[in-house]
Amino acid sequence: MPVKILMVCLGNICRSPLAEGILASKLPNDKFTVDSAGTGSWHVGRGPDNRSIATAQKNGLNIANQKGRQFERSDFDTFDYVFVMDNSNYRDVIHLAQNETQKQKVQLILDAIFPGENVDVPDPYYGVSNGFDMVYEMLNEACDIIAQNLIAKHP
Ligand code: 4NP
Repeated sequence: MPVKILMVCLGNICRSPLAEGILASKLPNDKFTVDSAGTGSWHVGRGPDNRSIATAQKNGLNIANQKGRQFERSDFDTFDYVFVMDNSNYRDVIHLAQNETQKQKVQLILDAIFPGENVDVPDPYYGVSNGFDMVYEMLNEACDIIAQNLIAKHP
């Protein structure tokens, strides 16, 4: 059984699709699967934001075929690790957890770089035009560490 990792943001069109593509590219795909979801439902069934697709493409990743979906309670059973992009996502996901085991699966993704500092990946949706590059750099750095940790933990 592969180890299952879920990336979560608000819309599942900007940050978590990038995080999914980046982490998947750093893990052997026979041992790990990576998916993403949004806490909101606005973009269910749609592909990622064109700016995320372009940023991924610039960095050699194709995320264009991902489909948006909403986080649901059953994801706590399906996935071993849930990485959220910001503190608001953290609250929304924890609110749906039904026990301590489920809560313990949830971590802020930038804790990999700034442990215990509660740092958010800023939502680039309405932000400045290089916001997507900044998000990519943060996620890439965090995913390097996360991938190393996962590979060490699940040899
Ligand atoms: P994301 O960004 O959470 O990184 O996918 C957003 C995209 C769209 C919306 C919110 C956040 N929205 O409200 O439509």
